[in-house]
Amino acid sequence: MSEEKYLTFALGKGRLADKTLQLMEQIGITCSEIQSKDTRKLIFVNEDLKLKFFLAKGPDVPTYVEYGAADIGVVGKDTLLEEERRAYEVLDLKFGNCKMCVCGPHDAKELLNHHEMIRVATKYPVIAKDYFYNKKHQTVNIIKLNGSVELGPIVGLSDVIVDIVETGSTLKANGLEILEEICPLSARMIVNQVSMQMESKRINEIISKLKAVIN
Ligand code: PRP
Repeated sequence: MSEEKYLTFALGKGRLADKTLQLMEQIGITCSEIQSKDTRKLIFVNEDLKLKFFLAKGPDVPTYVEYGAADIGVVGKDTLLEEERRAYEVLDLKFGNCKMCVCGPHDAKELLNHHEMIRVATKYPVIAKDYFYNKKHQTVNIIKLNGSVELGPIVGLSDVIVDIVETGSTLKANGLEILEEICPLSARMIVNQVSMQMESKRINEIISKLKAVIN
């Protein structure tokens, strides 16, 4: 019997996990259990390949990986930047493409140009702070929200927002626009730093196979 240890994957619940599993299937890694939509189970095992998969809230994925509860994680670049956890970012999976932007009503552009002391609503205070303080050298008041951030400028909570833009339809529907682009985003694979040393052969094999499929 093989003494091989399980390699554990933490996947951000939802679309990201679905896309990741589709990609894994292309390199021969399947987990039939996880695909049954109505299950409430959170952890799934592939005994033949000695793999485990679990579904976590996106922002928790880097935490599981930093502490070694998962060897590998798949999560959006936005979450990696916001959570600032220790892990190796090994691969851009090239899906979930979108961008982090400063958005607001057209008139707010002037406030940004003149480095006014403005209010910025966001789910991403770390990213917003880094952008305004370290890159733009603009002092702002950052207000943390947990979703539907576009409400900020509409109801008078903030002048602008820092948020993800994918198709732009949420902005358009709410009379807002992109004022500045902060950075491009996509799904990334991350690896625990110890696992990368201890399980380098298996992990590098997965990375090379994925690279071949992605490119
Ligand atoms: C995200 C993001 C924007 C929207 C962007 O919100 O925060 O609101 O999607 O997508 P679009 O450019 O294609 O319209 P999400 O759906 O995750 O919900 P949330 O507002 O609760 O964070």
